[in-house]
Amino acid sequence: MSSSSPLERRVAILGATGSIGTATISVIEHLTRIDAETTWRVHGISGHHNLDRLAEIAGRTAACKVVLSDPAVAADMPDSLAGRFPAAASLEVGPDKLVELAAAAEVDTLVAAIVGRAGLESTLAAIRAGKRVAIANKETLVVAGGLVREMSRRSGAELLPVDSEHAAIFQCLAGGGIARRIILTASGGPFRQATIEEMRQATIEQALAHPTWSMGRKISIDSATMMNKALEIIEARWLFDCPAEMIAVMIHPQSIIHSMVEMVDGSTIAQLSPPDMRLPIQHALTHPRCLPGATPTLDLTEPSRWSLEPVDTERFPAIPLGFEVASVGGTAGAVVNAANEAAVALFLEGRIRFTDIVTACRIALENHHHESNATLDRLLELDRWAREEVLRWQERSNF
Ligand SMILES: NC(=O)c1ccc[n+]([C@@H]2O[C@H](COP(=O)([O-])OP(=O)(O)OC[C@H]3O[C@@H](n4cnc5c(N)ncnc54)[C@H](OP(=O)(O)O)[C@@H]3O)[C@@H](O)[C@H]2O)c1
Repeated sequence: MSSSSPLERRVAILGATGSIGTATISVIEHLTRIDAETTWRVHGISGHHNLDRLAEIAGRTAACKVVLSDPAVAADMPDSLAGRFPAAASLEVGPDKLVELAAAAEVDTLVAAIVGRAGLESTLAAIRAGKRVAIANKETLVVAGGLVREMSRRSGAELLPVDSEHAAIFQCLAGGGIARRIILTASGGPFRQATIEEMRQATIEQALAHPTWSMGRKISIDSATMMNKALEIIEARWLFDCPAEMIAVMIHPQSIIHSMVEMVDGSTIAQLSPPDMRLPIQHALTHPRCLPGATPTLDLTEPSRWSLEPVDTERFPAIPLGFEVASVGGTAGAVVNAANEAAVALFLEGRIRFTDIVTACRIALENHHHESNATLDRLLELDRWAREEVLRWQERSNF
């Protein structure tokens, strides 16, 4: 458990070199300036490939521990770059060091900002150790949501969502009302108005060009296929312990309403703000305190027009897939998540078409034998199987 005083927060940021990691550092710098009650320290950071950025952040945050999770990158690190890491920081290498840092006694808060299933073990280690976990790495909940719930119940870990939709729902529920329906909003991504044929022909650049959010490559592709929303349906199912039938998705192209909760009394509560991840990150770090934010605010006294539209599930088959996985639970999340990661990688390598990504997820889901309860080892085994299954399918299909 944490050894820091109540007036000090010691944060580890895993995935510090990425989009969420960068926004987190900016939030902590902001809190350092404005939060008179708490001393904010970055105890540790991690990066995987981006050594330049990792060295720069190590200097900027004065982190004591710096983890480079890819040993191959460390082996090729030029001496000139090694010299750019602050002498006071200990540089450690390999994925095991992520787990050590996440569970370290000196850390009270983990920002889980690694992309994909690679963030699973470290996020689970922090949950097992009873930390506050600001969870951006939605894939952990998708793969092992049931285990996360059980583990956090036992350890007392506090899970604070960073995903803007889930942070919004969390805030809507804070008033204590009884929810009847959770409505996740979705921007619709770059292909909101595209035909299936246009999506079939989509280039990598078109798929990466998100209209309202600036994000890492994997989540940008997920947003374009709407697999991101599918993963978020599953994330919401576990995070808020609600059945899939309680969740709905609406397209909201302006990305101002981040999600809504319909209460049993008939009122609907929504959270609104400009699309900027610094807000949900700050919320997760400072909850239950609400401190002045670093982000611009909406001026709702100015005229504005927003819309809410249903999802066209024929063009975006990821959405029914997400509901199905959230509903059956068990091993389905691990399989679909792994298939999606494998298929996104193939698309980014130019080896499959954009519309094949969700097809690959559907095929992996249908070819696996569903189990309602599975250990972490079994989930990881199925993760490996699903990735291989997608590669076999791609080779068979002869794209
Ligand atoms: N970006 C957003 O606005 C946003 C919003 C909501 C939720 N999220 C979620 O937040 C997570 C991070 O997204 P992102 O957009 O910040 O991604 P990103 O910009 O691609 O950053 C990913 C981070 O993970 C590290 N990483 C990559 N592969 C790794 C591996 N195998 N092992 C350990 N570390 C690895 C990267 O290191 P290097 O860069 O050094 O290679 C980088 O620090 C995702 O789960 C995403 O779904 C993101």
